[in-house]
Amino acid sequence: MTERIRNAALRSKVCSAEDAAELIKNGDLVGASGFTGAGYPKVVPQALAKRMEHAHKEGHEYRIRLITGASTGPQLDGELAKVNGISFRAPYNSDPGLRARFNANEAGYFDNQLSHVAGRALQGEYGKFNVALIEATAITEDGGIVPTSSVGNSQAFLEVAEKVIIEVNEWQHPGLEGTHDIWHGNVSGFPGRDIVLITRADQRIGDTAMRVDTSKIVAIVHTNDKDRNSPFTEPDETSITIARHLLDFFQHEIKHERLPPSLLPLQSGVGNIPNAVLKGLNEGPFKGLVAYTEVIQDGMLDMLESGCLSVASATSFALSPKAAEEINNRMDFFRSKLILRQQDISNSAGIIRRLGCIAMNGMIEADIYGKVNSTRVMGSRVMNGIGGSGDFTRNSYMSFFLSPSTAKDGKISAIVPMTAHVDHGMQDTQIFITEQGIADLRGKSPVERARTMIAKCAHPTYRPMLQDYLDRALKDSYGKHMPHLLKEALSWHDRFVETGTMMP
Ligand code: COA
Repeated sequence: MTERIRNAALRSKVCSAEDAAELIKNGDLVGASGFTGAGYPKVVPQALAKRMEHAHKEGHEYRIRLITGASTGPQLDGELAKVNGISFRAPYNSDPGLRARFNANEAGYFDNQLSHVAGRALQGEYGKFNVALIEATAITEDGGIVPTSSVGNSQAFLEVAEKVIIEVNEWQHPGLEGTHDIWHGNVSGFPGRDIVLITRADQRIGDTAMRVDTSKIVAIVHTNDKDRNSPFTEPDETSITIARHLLDFFQHEIKHERLPPSLLPLQSGVGNIPNAVLKGLNEGPFKGLVAYTEVIQDGMLDMLESGCLSVASATSFALSPKAAEEINNRMDFFRSKLILRQQDISNSAGIIRRLGCIAMNGMIEADIYGKVNSTRVMGSRVMNGIGGSGDFTRNSYMSFFLSPSTAKDGKISAIVPMTAHVDHGMQDTQIFITEQGIADLRGKSPVERARTMIAKCAHPTYRPMLQDYLDRALKDSYGKHMPHLLKEALSWHDRFVETGTMMP
């Protein structure tokens, strides 16, 4: 541990997870590290959950408000959800147990845009942070906190919290030190934010460690526990077809000189479709690509290996166990090609615009006019949260939504007359791709957008129903600019809730 805690004075703060958990009180606002199942604290939350369970059995309230980078893992969100220990959570969650709490209104949840969270924390929107609970690879001689497999909002939490608890995790490779780029200018504070002068994805502008007033550190806990790494699933046929459409579209745009041959800095979400896209890019004619994105996933490591990608800049890893092992075994090769930044920099609107990124995200549903619901199933049940999709969709040079045309074995159409919730307005969306085809909505009026969306992206089962809706709306709508039949617009969702299918 002395190699990991290089500041001798801070070694006196080492204690057990149970002792550290005792410092977190009922009602506390806690800012924790963690993003997409990487770099989140693990043993203190589990000890805290035990304390909460005990308190609840004794009839005492013991819950916290929890703000993180994005999703964490079973040891944090999962354990606290089991004991109903979270009263409010932001900004992104993918834990199924916690999601169930939100959807039963047993815990509050708000999915801020990921680039906004550090700023909101500094402005006091969430209240006074009592505790920052941060996973670290190491603590440097001068008290710098070296992040682990994600950076997220940790630097901001270290600044605003009254008390700081550090989990030093020996499972995290010591060679991670040097991959981070922590900028100490005024990114999200106020007033008068500094210009973050990143003009290339591979540019480093900061230090390799986060700064903290070490007098605030009240506990340091030793851990040796893994990140929640989900196994890699080979892309299925639908994902491969969607990826093929996208790669053809890139070639088409290059031919028409709307994209350079090396494309533009790539942003890609996680999951089956992005995996297929990255695999396709790696096998295709593209060279000299760069990624300026939120998460670094398996496919990007393969691209770095082959030389197709020269650098991947993000705020976090989102790797399978196999890829996590690969990175650990070959840290010397990967280190110079990976940059992990604060999420208000990885997702900064200004930088995304300056670099001219290509955004590729998934969705729950889109309507015929191209409004997108990324978060609320049937308008009321939250899935994960908006994540960084808003940051990238609005600000990128070119923006894609990639999705199967149906969900739940065809019982749901992903293209509907009107979305039951809106995350991305139609002015922010451009190109949609399903396994059925490509709807390029750029430069089109609402009615032209609807015709294109129905013809190119809707599943053949639902296409005639959508066409019929548009035809009747064009006749009977109050306005004909963006026609809707208001009594019918959400009837597909209503039917699904009533009968379990959108089909009449
Ligand atoms: N109606 C109801 N449920 C739907 C649906 C629809 N139109 N479309 C998808 N779903 C359900 C799927 O059935 C699946 O449910 P299950 O877990 O019960 O099987 C779940 O949503 C995930 O869908 P899947 O098809 O596996 O796609 P995905 O893993 O690509 O996830 C989103 C799609 C929208 C949930 C995901 O992209 C997301 O959370 N997006 C918001 C955040 C984001 O875009 N971040 C980007 C930066 S990383």
